[in-house]
Amino acid sequence: MAKSTWFLLVSLLVVSAAAATQIKVTDNPADELVSVINSNRTAHKASTLYDNPGLACIALQYIKAYQGDCSAVGGTDAKKPLESEFAETFAPNCGVLASTLTPITGRLLGCQSKYVPPSEAFSKILIENSKSLEILYNKNHTEVGAAVRGSDGGSPYFWCVLFSSGKTNSSFATEGGAPKITRPGCFSGADDKCSGADDRSRSSHMWSFFTAALIAMWYAFGL
Ligand SMILES: *[C@@H]1O[C@H](CO)[C@@H](O)[C@H](O)[C@H]1NC(C)=O
Ligand SMILES: *[C@@H]1O[C@H](CO)[C@@H](O)[C@H](O)[C@H]1NC(C)=O
Ligand SMILES: *[C@@H]1O[C@H](CO)[C@@H](O)[C@H](O)[C@H]1NC(C)=O
Repeated sequence: MAKSTWFLLVSLLVVSAAAATQIKVTDNPADELVSVINSNRTAHKASTLYDNPGLACIALQYIKAYQGDCSAVGGTDAKKPLESEFAETFAPNCGVLASTLTPITGRLLGCQSKYVPPSEAFSKILIENSKSLEILYNKNHTEVGAAVRGSDGGSPYFWCVLFSSGKTNSSFATEGGAPKITRPGCFSGADDKCSGADDRSRSSHMWSFFTAALIAMWYAFGL
């Protein structure tokens, strides 16, 4: 009896631990978006762009400037952050040296209430017309930075891609060699794992883990 109880306990813990490790596969949707962009560009004989983490961090700040207002992204009420905000707000928030800021040669911005995977964000939200394709295939770009952010950790979701023609090893350089990582939101190039969707799915996995552990203890101690 005791033996079978322990067997049950151990197998339940193994199963729930396996479920918990599967969450780690999320990686980073901003990095995935850059890889979609680069493979689409190379298919059109345009160069592969360097994924600059300083520029990508600025893309996340750029999203933040919209303060969750989806309607300001497109249509007649479209707004754009002031050029001066790059040096005054975005760069310092990222730890990017203002002296290394380089002109932005293109931007793609989209917002939607539902979270979609990066490949779908690319084809359905960011590339909506021939003008955005022109921006995508522009031969003047040398580097790119991408970001995604939900508002208050949930809907709506903003996607932003900034392109630049700067020198890849010296533009958007950061004080400590890496940009400041801020949450919520994910940006590309920093080799960090990040979840673009809100954290609800993760916590429900945690709950199933604890529930399984509790059930296991119930069996083990005959509670
Ligand atoms: C590149 O993206 C555009 C817009 O989504 C799409 O029409 C085209 O088929 C893509 N090309 C490749 C090679 O994936
Ligand atoms: C590329 O840069 C050159 C020089 O600044 C400019 O004249 C040209 O219009 C740009 N090309 C595109 C496709 O934006
Ligand atoms: C950047 O790259 C260029 C050419 O690839 C090189 O001449 C220059 O020294 C590099 N600068 C730094 C800061 O590494």
